[in-house]
Amino acid sequence: MSDTQRVKRASRLRGSVRVPGDKSASHRALMISALADGDSTIEGLSNGTDVAATRRIIAQLGATTFDGDGYTTVHGPVAGLHVSDRPLDCANSGTTMRLLVGIVSTIPGDHVLVGDESLSRRPMDRVAVPLALMGSRVEGLGPRTTAPLTVRSPSALSAVTYRIPVASAQVKSAILFAGLGAKGTTTVIEDVRTRSTTEDMLRLAGLDVTSLNHGDGRTVTVTSGRPRPRHWRVPGDPSQAAFFAVLGAIHRDARIKVVDIDSAPERIGFVEVLRRMGAKIALVTSGGATSLTVESSRLRGTEVRADEVPSVDEIPVLVVAAAAALGVSAFRGMGELRLKESDRFAGSMALATSLGCRVWSDGDDFFIEGLSDARSFDDFTFDVLLDHRMVMSSAVAGAAGHGCTIAGAATVASSYTDFFSDLALLG
Ligand code: S3P
Repeated sequence: MSDTQRVKRASRLRGSVRVPGDKSASHRALMISALADGDSTIEGLSNGTDVAATRRIIAQLGATTFDGDGYTTVHGPVAGLHVSDRPLDCANSGTTMRLLVGIVSTIPGDHVLVGDESLSRRPMDRVAVPLALMGSRVEGLGPRTTAPLTVRSPSALSAVTYRIPVASAQVKSAILFAGLGAKGTTTVIEDVRTRSTTEDMLRLAGLDVTSLNHGDGRTVTVTSGRPRPRHWRVPGDPSQAAFFAVLGAIHRDARIKVVDIDSAPERIGFVEVLRRMGAKIALVTSGGATSLTVESSRLRGTEVRADEVPSVDEIPVLVVAAAAALGVSAFRGMGELRLKESDRFAGSMALATSLGCRVWSDGDDFFIEGLSDARSFDDFTFDVLLDHRMVMSSAVAGAAGHGCTIAGAATVASSYTDFFSDLALLG
């Protein structure tokens, strides 16, 4: 696909979409299967380039992978994973790099981890600090420990009890993975519950994991051990469904269904935000699978707190919803947005500005004055700066408004290779 993509206004949107397999579960299914002794199978693996990076890396570390009919097989070596003599290239994927720091910490020796220009700007000190407490040295550049990284893994890790200072599923997961190779019980305390994908999947793979909710937070423990091989079924990615949810709500003539998505509470905060804004949106579970339905709605502004959309992945597209709403929306506590694939704090404000909205900020909060209707959006051009979610957020605004031109659109393949063809099918 061309790197500059023109998105036209869609006159009518109807139909149903199957989004790619959940990115978080896909990475973990590959990693846990690589750590196991024997053959695991994965159904519904994301075909994005982020997950492909994880797949290449587990192969470098000694696992074998191959595609069967509708599923992927991963063979975890009996003797366990080993050091690779080449750098582990995490491409654009923060999840790959941060989780891998935990995994390679359990493989004695030195490991080099590299990433693209976007990933090389992202802070890795958030995983380096707890891993150092466990005995693994993570060296990188500058005060925020940016890539390239060298992970110097000891012959034995120690278990820790660690309270995570930022809400981050990636940090929690890096520590839990390292905990598999540490003597004793590793405990992670989070003050805001983030997605439970790692702890849930480790438990399914037979490991000794406990999880206890308290207030808004959660304490998770893991003891050392090796995952058992198994079959994984990866549901659709709710963070991708969020783009269609907003599109359906702000477009004047839309009825869209997104089939089979993960509906874990930490993943679907955006649904509640849209409902509060007045969206006609529903999650329907039947036969073990959850679908999302949405139709054209009149939206009003709201206040969105970071902790109701943990990991803040859905904020840029909620900004597009706010731009189409009546009144002012407040986005509070959004500092983490600055540390994603691009500075999404600046990017979200810039996107709303290019649509014609008045926007302003105060510390980690920002505000969007909506235009009441997506048909008031300007036709705009946006440079997404190697950020897949900014591609899709821009495209949603263009399809519901008056079109747009997206520079750097090819990066959408990080998580959603077929996004533009799925969008076209609805139109
Ligand atoms: C992810 C965690 C999130 C999120 C990312 C996927 C994961 O980041 O942004 O898209 O799979 O663990 P945090 O570490 O900020 O929660």
